[in-house]
Amino acid sequence: MDRLYIGGSGFIPKMRRILVIGAKGMLGRDLMGILHSSFSKDEVIGWDIEEIDIRKEDDSVAKIKDLRPEVVIHLAAYTDVDGCESDKERAFAVNAEGTRHVALAASTCRAKMVYLSTDYVFDGKKGEPYLESDPPHPLNVYGHSKLKGEQYVQEWVEDSLIIRTQWLYGPFGKNFVDSILRQAGEKKTLSIVDDQTGSPTYTVDLAKVISGLIQFNARGIFHVANSDFCTWYTFAQAILKLSGVNRVKVLPISSKELGRPAARPSHSVLNCQKLKKETGLTMRPWSEALEDYLSTYRQSLS
Ligand SMILES: NC(=O)c1ccc[n+]([C@@H]2O[C@H](COP(=O)([O-])OP(=O)(O)OC[C@H]3O[C@@H](n4cnc5c(N)ncnc54)[C@H](OP(=O)(O)O)[C@@H]3O)[C@@H](O)[C@H]2O)c1
Repeated sequence: MDRLYIGGSGFIPKMRRILVIGAKGMLGRDLMGILHSSFSKDEVIGWDIEEIDIRKEDDSVAKIKDLRPEVVIHLAAYTDVDGCESDKERAFAVNAEGTRHVALAASTCRAKMVYLSTDYVFDGKKGEPYLESDPPHPLNVYGHSKLKGEQYVQEWVEDSLIIRTQWLYGPFGKNFVDSILRQAGEKKTLSIVDDQTGSPTYTVDLAKVISGLIQFNARGIFHVANSDFCTWYTFAQAILKLSGVNRVKVLPISSKELGRPAARPSHSVLNCQKLKKETGLTMRPWSEALEDYLSTYRQSLS
């Protein structure tokens, strides 16, 4: 097959079949749009639970093998962090074993595999932004199951790319931004956690970087999030301010006061310097991305 040198770490085939699993999720829908335009000469196929249930090993492996993709981008996951705590079996069946099935099929097809992972593989106790090389230590079931997924990808797939990200919001899923605006329409006071720090990340920005990393043929682990960081409390304040909502009071509370079933890391900011150093790709500050999201979608949110 004809091959094209694209810089970075190697050569990639000119014409490819790219399979996205989890294509109807929040990130998946943005990514499908971006891949269709950035890889217009390639075939981009999106599957979700209706096309493939990654918990079923034989069926999943057979379906992927039949398609023979050159790139498999695996976004499908059980992403309800508190739900994972009460349904550990489902969390591991989807996030860990499901990922193993995808990895097995990708390895049989000799495909590149891209896996989306999370800051929740860390415990947040480092006190400064996490590097890709920092040892993971999850606090909750979701984090454990996603970390197991990472390990399967590394074990099974020769050409793999693991992208850890955090605090996603975007036009195609239930998310914190929309939830704050909805609650602001119903209440006078919002109590928001002020002891968890991270980087809110816009799915459109992330999707562009995922596409860039694939074009660059990047391998290994990369941390990708919008730059700068804040707490959920500061994030909520920014959402309301940028939306012109000033009648609602935001009160800072602790994670303990909120009492969610799953423990969350207190400071899980991701250091994204490797992304810039190795590929030249960067992510803008979260506040700029938020402004962009709100100005694009405010109409439909109000
Ligand atoms: N959201 C975040 O803040 C965040 C942060 C860090 C990392 N990530 C990672 O980024 C990726 C995308 O996240 P997202 O927020 O876009 O997730 P999402 O909206 O929950 O989308 C995940 C998709 O996977 C599908 N799915 C669930 N179980 C499946 C199965 N057994 N077989 C096939 N498909 C299945 C879901 O279908 P149903 O909706 O029908 O269940 C959904 O369409 C995930 O891998 C997640 O772990 C997310």
